[in-house]
Amino acid sequence: MYKLSKAPLISAQQIDTRLESLAQELKAFDFDVILSALTGSYMFSADISRRIANPKLQIAFIKASSYGDSTESNGKVKISGLGDIDIKDKRILVIDDILDTGNTMKSLVESLAELGPASIKTCVLLNKESRRVVDCHADFVGFEIENKFVVGYGLDYANDYRTLPEIWTLEEV
Ligand code: IMP
Ligand code: MG
Repeated sequence: MYKLSKAPLISAQQIDTRLESLAQELKAFDFDVILSALTGSYMFSADISRRIANPKLQIAFIKASSYGDSTESNGKVKISGLGDIDIKDKRILVIDDILDTGNTMKSLVESLAELGPASIKTCVLLNKESRRVVDCHADFVGFEIENKFVVGYGLDYANDYRTLPEIWTLEEV
């Protein structure tokens, strides 16, 4: 059994303040398309994109799934959700909720690179640097956190807790 920590690890006010400064950093790059990795980054992507508020900035919510055929599984993932957005020659910002082992972000970036974008930068709300197992670093990080399992503000445990406006630690009881 798990329960939420007594107090949030990161309050809604702290998120708000950090997003404001992060948006200023991101504005300098003039991205064409945000690709938000579902589902965990939905709230972060919505809040950061409206602070960038560039009329020409497009957004798509993507999902990565492994190829079923093991002969194809050299870390590459199949990306769905791009719809009619063509990322060729575009400046891409990939957004995810959290960088943990780094496997998700690394395979996402490798697969997106094959679609010929002009550039790919990465942004995560949270970074657990101590958990990294593959060589992967985000260009933009909201908060550095310790090796604890966190939920809220989009992040889930078995699909629960996502809609909480702050970030909490999940503790075993
Ligand atoms: P990675 O591939 O190990 O970097 O894992 C990234 C994914 O694992 C994230 O997109 C999350 O969905 C999930 N994840 C990793 N750590 C946490 C956590 O503390 N809380 C909720 N989800 C997490
Ligand atoms: Mg996720």
